[in-house]
Amino acid sequence: MNKVKISVVGIGLMGNQHLNAIERSHKAILHSIVDINKDSRLHAKKYKVPFYKTSGELLKNNKPDAVIIATPNQFHEKHTSSFLKAKIPVLLEKPISDNILSAKKIINNSKKNKTHLLIGYHRRHNSIVTSLKKKIESGQLGKIVSANVMCWVYKHKDYFKEKWRIKKGGGPLGINLVHDIDLICYLLGTVNSVQALTSNSIRKYKVEDTAIVNLVFKSGALCTLNVSDTIVAPWSYELTSGENSAYPATNQSCYYIGGTKGSVQFPNLKHWYNKKERSWWKKIFHKDEGTKSSKYTLVNQIDHLCDIVRKKTKPKINGNDGLISLKILDAILRSSKSGKKIKI
Ligand SMILES: NC(=O)c1ccc[n+]([C@@H]2O[C@H](COP(=O)([O-])OP(=O)(O)OC[C@H]3O[C@@H](n4cnc5c(N)ncnc54)[C@H](O)[C@@H]3O)[C@@H](O)[C@H]2O)c1
Repeated sequence: MNKVKISVVGIGLMGNQHLNAIERSHKAILHSIVDINKDSRLHAKKYKVPFYKTSGELLKNNKPDAVIIATPNQFHEKHTSSFLKAKIPVLLEKPISDNILSAKKIINNSKKNKTHLLIGYHRRHNSIVTSLKKKIESGQLGKIVSANVMCWVYKHKDYFKEKWRIKKGGGPLGINLVHDIDLICYLLGTVNSVQALTSNSIRKYKVEDTAIVNLVFKSGALCTLNVSDTIVAPWSYELTSGENSAYPATNQSCYYIGGTKGSVQFPNLKHWYNKKERSWWKKIFHKDEGTKSSKYTLVNQIDHLCDIVRKKTKPKINGNDGLISLKILDAILRSSKSGKKIKI
């Protein structure tokens, strides 16, 4: 079968990773590169594919089978809409947009043009996430009572040379925690309300460097998420999953999910339980699942995009999933300003 021809729009930090993932995929081939910055021509040369400065130029010339949009969040609607109108399936980087109105427009566009939209929450393509979901759904942990999610990283000063990263929407809530928000919603279900505090007291940029968030789920479960990009620590999905070799892996955990019958650490999937009687006076045992993290989650995501193009499957993470995490993100920002609990 012919490989699926994919164009990548926006060759920055993430676009580059997609180029790499396409190269590793057996189902996909790079079709072309689009970037307003003409320095990205060098990537097109390296991969021997055409280079275009705008999506319009690409669409006029030679249409790809699918496109990946990896431009800054505020351009997501603009860049996605031209491809959806041309009925070309889109893998859109997370978050779906920088605001709810434009996220809704993107979703409507996808519906109106009957063209699939996959949101780039690539962690969901990792087998450890699938194993965790199965464990929760199997009831082995009992009723889920509470969860604690850690996302502490230290970003080097070079990271902030891109000015959009120090402005509204460019901070660790929208860049990092939104992945955890998507994942915890996938694992624990619908969120009813949100409360949050943010701080920029260390980096002093206009955007937050640190935040703590409380979620109340429809199921009654509670969850705390703790994020910072200015803490040297091993407790984040990036540093524990081993998913991306750019982040030296630790053997620590970053999620702790607790139920009435047991609890689980993630990503190492250490499952804690009492053997007979449940009590803090009884010895607590643990078993290790032995599930290995997928090393090539981004490649799995590309393969999934190819299956969507081939009409073998529907997007695992659709526009509505993207909208849910964006609404929670928006509620976090509003709650941190008002100090109030916000209903979703
Ligand atoms: N999935 C993940 O883990 C992950 C990680 C980092 C970033 N992201 C997301 O990827 C997207 C890009 O982030 P980044 O960190 O790679 O940004 P970046 O600033 O490193 O790169 C953005 C690229 O888009 C290009 N660009 C800007 N405007 C353009 C336009 N009008 N037309 C064509 N190209 C244009 C820029 O020249 C640049 O090459 C964001 O949505 C971000 O949230 C996702």
